[in-house]
Amino acid sequence: MDPYKFRPSSAHNSNFWTTNSGAPVWNNNASLTVGERGPILLEDYHLLEKIAQFDRERIPERVVHARGASAKGFFEVTHDISHLTCADFLRAPGVQTPLIVRFSTVIHERGSPETLRDPRGFAVKFYTREGNFDMVGNNFPVFFVRDGMKFPDMVHALKPNPKTHIQEIWRILDFFSHHPESLHMFTFLFDDVGIPENYRTMPGFGVHTFTLINKAGKATFVKFHWLPAAGERCLSNEDAVVVGGTNHSHATKDLYDSIAAGNFPEWKLCIQVMDPADENKFDFDPLDVTKTWPEELFPLQPVGRMVLNRNIDNFFAENEQLAFCPALVVPGVYYTDDKLLQTRIFSYADTQRHRLGPNYLMLPVNAPKCAHHNNHHEGFMNFMHRDEEVNYFPSRFDPVRHSEKVPIPSHVLTGKREKVMIEKENNFAQPGARYRSWAPDRQERFVKMWIEALQDPRVIPEVRSIWLSYWSQCDKTLGQKIAAHVGGKANM
Ligand code: HEM
Repeated sequence: MDPYKFRPSSAHNSNFWTTNSGAPVWNNNASLTVGERGPILLEDYHLLEKIAQFDRERIPERVVHARGASAKGFFEVTHDISHLTCADFLRAPGVQTPLIVRFSTVIHERGSPETLRDPRGFAVKFYTREGNFDMVGNNFPVFFVRDGMKFPDMVHALKPNPKTHIQEIWRILDFFSHHPESLHMFTFLFDDVGIPENYRTMPGFGVHTFTLINKAGKATFVKFHWLPAAGERCLSNEDAVVVGGTNHSHATKDLYDSIAAGNFPEWKLCIQVMDPADENKFDFDPLDVTKTWPEELFPLQPVGRMVLNRNIDNFFAENEQLAFCPALVVPGVYYTDDKLLQTRIFSYADTQRHRLGPNYLMLPVNAPKCAHHNNHHEGFMNFMHRDEEVNYFPSRFDPVRHSEKVPIPSHVLTGKREKVMIEKENNFAQPGARYRSWAPDRQERFVKMWIEALQDPRVIPEVRSIWLSYWSQCDKTLGQKIAAHVGGKANM
């Protein structure tokens, strides 16, 4: 055996107990004491190590999306889109790429119930031959705010009150009363789709507009959609109380049990495409995350399918330590100028360095599965075996070179420095149209949700009338129906 090639793994378990350094433990039941009763000797290193390790078993939970379940599987291309992108993993129908997915709730803690009305995270890590591609999306196609500057305040408003540690609707309505761009998101969150039945029957969306770019450098705007093969299913408020009251991990269990039983969850990946030359032709900004692209104008085009056919082996290693980042793209996929996406490019790797340490991408679940090389390997918990003498670039002693040029969008950017809103806010049209598209009973359930929310005793009249005004601007009858129950006048 080459002792330096030995990697820790339960595949190498000894058949007797050891300390972390591998020394045999002859008694794992009792501490080493002076006499039968104690005191305990400081030299009982085995005890010290065991307790010290236990004391450190928890790492910081994710600041959002703390509660999640993950599973492994593959993505298979079913339709050729090589004219749109040079992404290797999308090169031809039939190509398969291994992946891991993490579904999550957003606001509450690591151990919170999975039946809460909350968006769900839908994050997919594709282990491609050209590095990892993380599609870090949600189960709704839009988002609350469109500028990352607002994200921490938004999360603070949605999280529990810092005094009571209880999520309180008056704080949420107060914050979002300043943000009519959130109305569209609320037509999902307070709608029937606000509590998914489980993770298998939940759609996913890239939410942002991304760029696909081909070898010739031609860029196309795209929106990603994951459609569950089993259809979309949700829980009513009443059902959620029953399901959550019985098992507060029902969605994690459902995912695990389905895969274990061979009932593999599957999604179809579709895209909507837009020529960037057309971006100014609409009454909304196509890069605005609070907007969807109408499917009549931008039909869904199938690209591939994702199948989850393997459960994780260890929750800590493959869920807690799993780290996504929307900045992780591969050649052929790029960002857009969406301001929210641009902030996310910084935020995720930054939080992972805090949560997991600077070498978090070396952890097996996060490491690329293709050959890779650079000199960013020192810092806490580097565990990569390296024996090079040259750790700088360039060097005449190291043949490593640049890759072939990767195409990136080449449009000309101009403008003065400024801090402003986007020009076409158009906050009311899409939420109003969505409300009008529902059957009457679905509209009634939405109205009821708002009546209950606005009747909270801590919602002040000013906030109530702002919300009445917002919903009236989306749809007059919607505003009137809510106003009829909560009183107050729309603050138009
Ligand atoms: C500027 C806006 C945003 C910021 C600053 C932000 C920040 C964060 C942070 C810090 C985490 C925790 C990551 C970790 O500890 O592993 C996170 C998780 C996550 N975020 Fe965001 N986020 C933003 C917007 C969004 C949007 C628009 C989406 C959906 C498209 C989204 C989807 C997710 C998902 C799915 C996770 C969980 C990933 C996992 O399962 O580990 N976030 N976000």
